[in-house]
Amino acid sequence: MRRSIALVVVLVLCVALLAGCNTGKEETTSTTDSKAATKTLVMGTNATFPPYEYVDDNGTIIGIDAEIAKAVCDKLGYELQIKDMEFDSLIPAVQAGSIDFAMAGMTVTDERKESVDFTDSYATGVQVVIVKEDSAIKTVDDLKDKKIGVQSGTTGDIYCTDDYGQENVNQYANGALAVAALVNGQVDCVVIDNEPAKAYVAANTGLKILETEYVTEDYAAAISKDNNALLTEFNGALKELIADGTVKTIVDKYIKADA
Ligand code: ARG
Repeated sequence: MRRSIALVVVLVLCVALLAGCNTGKEETTSTTDSKAATKTLVMGTNATFPPYEYVDDNGTIIGIDAEIAKAVCDKLGYELQIKDMEFDSLIPAVQAGSIDFAMAGMTVTDERKESVDFTDSYATGVQVVIVKEDSAIKTVDDLKDKKIGVQSGTTGDIYCTDDYGQENVNQYANGALAVAALVNGQVDCVVIDNEPAKAYVAANTGLKILETEYVTEDYAAAISKDNNALLTEFNGALKELIADGTVKTIVDKYIKADA
């Protein structure tokens, strides 16, 4: 009996010793071997923005941005991990380094450029106005004194707040909620990017997009100002993927040319 206790003690000690050795070994291995191991790039997005990023029936984030990011990472030999977050949090997350880049149908603006670097642009967007089919709002000029719904922190939010005053702008966590508010009559219109606008109008009855466009903009990925190496790598890969038609194929897969 006493001998078996001793045996157990010895065994436990051995295991502990081995575990200790192992951890130490693992740490050194991972630092010296880091070049051989595939590195992961974490992309932040806000997956409420079809067809650029949205969650499919299996809970996977898909869309133009996810596929372009995957193609860029494949080319550069990185694993891609996608993190879904509030649109508002993306630039702070890039700055804090909790994500390596943000790709979210994000418009390049001078103000954002003060906080992050942008890659070359891979797509364009247009801010459009969604209204109810029988709305009195006919053009952008009719927006004055109307209640406007926007996704918080987006360029639609920023432009409308500047042009029509904060008191006329209702911010929502995502475009779908802004559109729900329009359907419920809490706002008179929604200002949002044209492609998600089409998806939202298709998903709801009684809505339409005004013919007049509000603002045209460029989409790009945002990278930390402290990570110039990644910016250069990303742009290199993106350039090749644009040149060989990969980016266009991805875009065309999600956006069917208007009939
Ligand atoms: N293009 C607009 C902006 O940059 C809206 C982007 C919203 N993107 C999203 N994934 N929810 O402000």
